[in-house]
Amino acid sequence: MKSPFDALADLVRGATFDDFLLRPQQSVIERRDPSVIDLSCRFSTNITLKRPLVSANMDTVTRAPMAIVQAEEGGLGIIDRGFRNGDIEPQVREVEKVKRMQHVIIRDPYAVTPQTSLADAAAMMRRTRAGTLVVVEGPRRLKGLLTERDVRFVNTREGTVASRMTPVEALVTGEGELTLDVAERLMVERKVKKLPLVDKSGTLIGLITAKDITRQERLPFSTRDTHGRLRVGAAIGATGDYLERAAELVKSQVDVIVIDIAHGHSMVMAKAIDAFRKDFPDTELVVGNVATAEGVRFLVERGVNAVKVGIGPGGGCTTRLTTSFGVPQLQALYECGLATSPANHVPLIADGGIKRHGAILEALLFGGDTVMLGSMFAGTEETPGDVVQKPVMIPDQQRSVKVPFKVLRGMASIQAIRDRLDVEDDEVVDMEAIGAEGTEVSVPARGSVRPIIHDILKHLCSSISYGGARSLAELRTMFRADPLRYLVKLSSSAKRESYER
Ligand code: XMP
Repeated sequence: MKSPFDALADLVRGATFDDFLLRPQQSVIERRDPSVIDLSCRFSTNITLKRPLVSANMDTVTRAPMAIVQAEEGGLGIIDRGFRNGDIEPQVREVEKVKRMQHVIIRDPYAVTPQTSLADAAAMMRRTRAGTLVVVEGPRRLKGLLTERDVRFVNTREGTVASRMTPVEALVTGEGELTLDVAERLMVERKVKKLPLVDKSGTLIGLITAKDITRQERLPFSTRDTHGRLRVGAAIGATGDYLERAAELVKSQVDVIVIDIAHGHSMVMAKAIDAFRKDFPDTELVVGNVATAEGVRFLVERGVNAVKVGIGPGGGCTTRLTTSFGVPQLQALYECGLATSPANHVPLIADGGIKRHGAILEALLFGGDTVMLGSMFAGTEETPGDVVQKPVMIPDQQRSVKVPFKVLRGMASIQAIRDRLDVEDDEVVDMEAIGAEGTEVSVPARGSVRPIIHDILKHLCSSISYGGARSLAELRTMFRADPLRYLVKLSSSAKRESYER
């Protein structure tokens, strides 16, 4: 028997976010507070997030700084593949920066030997920005610790680490795998800020720092792997260096690989998934993009862990203009959502077209398990790229002022393709023949992305309150059980009244 949600097909055909409003229900919560309302969701079959936000794998949106903040705030960042073909190392480095960012137990802390010169040790501290180096000998036998303070005001041109380090006999160490609570208690009791962990034979197995413990406590929603490190994803293509790139990314402990191409419902994608699965049977794999139920089934059958949905809704995207193909995003999410069985659900990522915070809730109610955002995060400090000052006319005053801007560009824009291909200015390449499906725009430079994420989450909690639920999951269940209690399809004048500001 069809459920009330299954019967929405006619209502959502041809519709997207701005075609609907949701009818307010009686609120049942006292506070719309993101620190108490459960917003958890599934990103993929094996990864859960406490916040349903993912930053887009675009070369003007997500590199390490963005991915770090996203994961700290409970979402996830996907490092783009906008690096040149064969140029794998730069993408791997971005992943490593996230994985090393803060982990409660640092498994492979930066290390030197007692014989290392102080000059080399000081240079390593500067290069890695690590304030503490562990001193090891042979197969990682702990010999001591060298901190920034040990080399401050010291002539580092002479001498070796042995002359300045705190030797192991004078250190407080933890034996074996300690829980965070035990480690913290030990550090408070013994008044130390660093706690090297060793096994019974004195071999180093990790390092815990007070700073990382404090940071972890301040970020209760952060997205972490089983070792307490922030999670991060990375995108690859479906041809060229993709398998080699995947191998290096997996080696760097990336948590999820995203095979991202414009048209995921394709033989190219099928071949890429099969080859990927042969080499990496256990790696979490997300693929996309598609916008139809057939597309989702085609990918799910091949054993993927999540599917990215969205053909052409994105801010920097011209696919629909140039090809006339695509599906309005709300319809796409609805149809794709019905294609993955509730019993064996493969999560969907609603990718693109979200221009206002309220649309996030619609994406999550109609079929998305998480949302991927590009332009909403554009121009923030954490995005890659330089700030440029551009003159902007003030119409009333007949004068222009300089305003800081950053670039946001579609990954299929001429500019992004040109950079990936490493085209020299005087080289003749028929860019028209490449068939760009994206644009480049300037967006005002703004501050950190963190307050933007906080605002989104506050608004999502307000939506949950208006929807009469206690959590995101509960609102989704209530909506699915009786969608017509919520849905108001808008006339064109109601759309103007609602969304044209
Ligand atoms: P928003 O609307 O959040 O969308 O900026 C981000 C998503 O847009 C997609 N994207 C593109 N789509 N041509 C396209 O057809 C492009 O050049 C392009 N660049 C990005 C992508 O799915 C991203 O996550």
